Amino acid sequence: MIKPSTGRSVMLAADHGYFMGPTHKLENPRKMLEPLLPYADTVAVTRGILRSSIDPKWDTPILLRVSGGASVLKEDLSDEEITTSMEDAVRLNVSAVALSIFVGTPHEKQSLINLGELVNQGEDFGMPVMAITAVGKELEKRDAKYLALACRLAAELGAHVVKTYYCENFRKVADGTPVPLVVAGGPKLNTETDVFNLVYNALQEGAVGVDMGRNIWQNEKPVAMIKAIRAIVHEKATVKEAQNIFAENKSTVGEKPSVDRA
Ligand code: 5RP
Repeated sequence: MIKPSTGRSVMLAADHGYFMGPTHKLENPRKMLEPLLPYADTVAVTRGILRSSIDPKWDTPILLRVSGGASVLKEDLSDEEITTSMEDAVRLNVSAVALSIFVGTPHEKQSLINLGELVNQGEDFGMPVMAITAVGKELEKRDAKYLALACRLAAELGAHVVKTYYCENFRKVADGTPVPLVVAGGPKLNTETDVFNLVYNALQEGAVGVDMGRNIWQNEKPVAMIKAIRAIVHEKATVKEAQNIFAENKSTVGEKPSVDRA
């Protein structure tokens, strides 16, 4: 999932439906994902979407979302448990499993114990675990003090990689987290340049890549977006270069990746 050639990763997040339902632009996951898969180092999905919507012909490594239990209809999204067995994750031939933790919420303890339990199960099978520092509907929580705490807790409990949000003073978050960090994109930003800045800055400040969804597939030109992001992550492209790659690829529907995933 993290490419040895660069030490970095472009993870494509498409696991929103497990609590958000048919999210805008991801109503038909197969249709949206197929053109993007050649450019993703990993795709994050639930087992339901993996079975129904990702053809076995694809060799993109799978990051399997295994936590759930709440929906957007509930005010508090933190009431999650482990929803998928480690045996099924192995049977599905996934590369890693992912689970949310909700630090500072009513179900903080439950979500942290879920993480410890998932790591215990993973150790029996050699299965890496990603912890996701979820904030539910409280997007304003995304500051360095909170995220540094949540990411450190995740690493201490045994997560092999942590997904969090980019924030001001992100270096503080990265410095306190002794395992690889990737950043989510969050709700769609106003411009492509905002997204490229987020990715560029996160990498400069210690992230090893992105696990990004809506700012790729809710864009009108998702293939151009992922190609531009890929260039920042793997080719050290600047924001200006990413803008040029996006402009050059706006008419692309899907073609061979510019960077080999092998
Ligand atoms: C959904 C998730 C998403 O994978 C994560 O938020 C990344 O997606 P986005 O870039 O759209 O925020 O954890 O539960």
